[in-house]
Amino acid sequence: DMGGHDTYMHKEISEQADAVDRVLRGRIDDRFSTVHLGGLNLDAREARGVRRIKILGCGTSYHAGQIGAQLIEELARIPADAEPASEFRYRNPVVDPDTLYVAVSQSGETYDVLAAVQELKRKGARVLGVVNVVGSAIAREADGGTYVHAGPEVCVVSTKCFTNTVVAFALLALHLGRIRDLSVADGKRIIDGLRRLPEQISEILAGEDEIKRLAAEYADAKSMMFIGRVRGYPVAREASLKLKEVSYIHAEAYPASELKHGPLALIEPAMPTVAIVPDDDLLEKNRAAMEEIKARSGRILAVAHQVQEKADHTIVVPKNENELDPILMGIPLQLFAYHTALAMGRDIDKPRNLAKSVTVE
Ligand code: M6R
Repeated sequence: DMGGHDTYMHKEISEQADAVDRVLRGRIDDRFSTVHLGGLNLDAREARGVRRIKILGCGTSYHAGQIGAQLIEELARIPADAEPASEFRYRNPVVDPDTLYVAVSQSGETYDVLAAVQELKRKGARVLGVVNVVGSAIAREADGGTYVHAGPEVCVVSTKCFTNTVVAFALLALHLGRIRDLSVADGKRIIDGLRRLPEQISEILAGEDEIKRLAAEYADAKSMMFIGRVRGYPVAREASLKLKEVSYIHAEAYPASELKHGPLALIEPAMPTVAIVPDDDLLEKNRAAMEEIKARSGRILAVAHQVQEKADHTIVVPKNENELDPILMGIPLQLFAYHTALAMGRDIDKPRNLAKSVTVE
């Protein structure tokens, strides 16, 4: 039942304020400015002993894990990174007892992720799951974890589950942070930010008509460049994947800082750029990158917290705490990908060559 929407993708994009509300519900502890995640199976002493976190997933879940790794480093100051599960399991990784492994999956059935979890468990590692589908294979195989509570996601192109997974990582990062060195004040600051998310998501979704207009403006592109820095970079990667899989327009994602090391050669009017420009300490650097693109006659669509003079168009998104900005900045670009694909007559819920869950190698 699509509830009045023309596709599941549109329905699922539109459900995100409620979905985020669901992942937060019942978990916030205002007294200690922390969150409780019931199923983690990791007590405070064990959490303090974690020296590294390795996040494994595929596709969109991998991108959510990249933002998750940044949140964990920022809030809990534990070294963390994300890697495609498929690559990890074929490079004979060093499995370290002080590392906590986190497997991320919407379906909980992705074979490469499941196989990585099984290999890790065979070697005695502790593995948590950040999974949407309750009781799925990865959820069962993990030592503990947290559910993402996005609700059923039908469209092959993941949208609401991405957002909820990142929020789930923010909760995990806050939880670990407050066991370690995150202050009460910072814990409270992040909690207040989390509580603002549902309303801010509704605000973004209310701008759909304008995003649809912008999608038409860029629909002639043969290829698009997506750029961002640090917090903005995984957002750029995910937005680029969304556009590719649903519209079949070629897209690339790069850290803005890497442009001059090669990809700047591609910039010309037929290759527009989408720039993720949060209002944080890298704002000036991002502005400089947009200037370089303009100097090569590139068109720019910015996603930012204020109108960007260097860009041809800006989608303004509400500001949250710096650490939480990536949760919101990708949402308008889900709608951008959707409207581009719709105008091109694509099979939005079932893009060619793709399956919702990849249970084979
Ligand atoms: O179910 P999973 O989260 O494990 O799926 C992982 C990927 O196959 C999935 O995210 C894929 O990249 C989607 N088509 C993205 O929209």
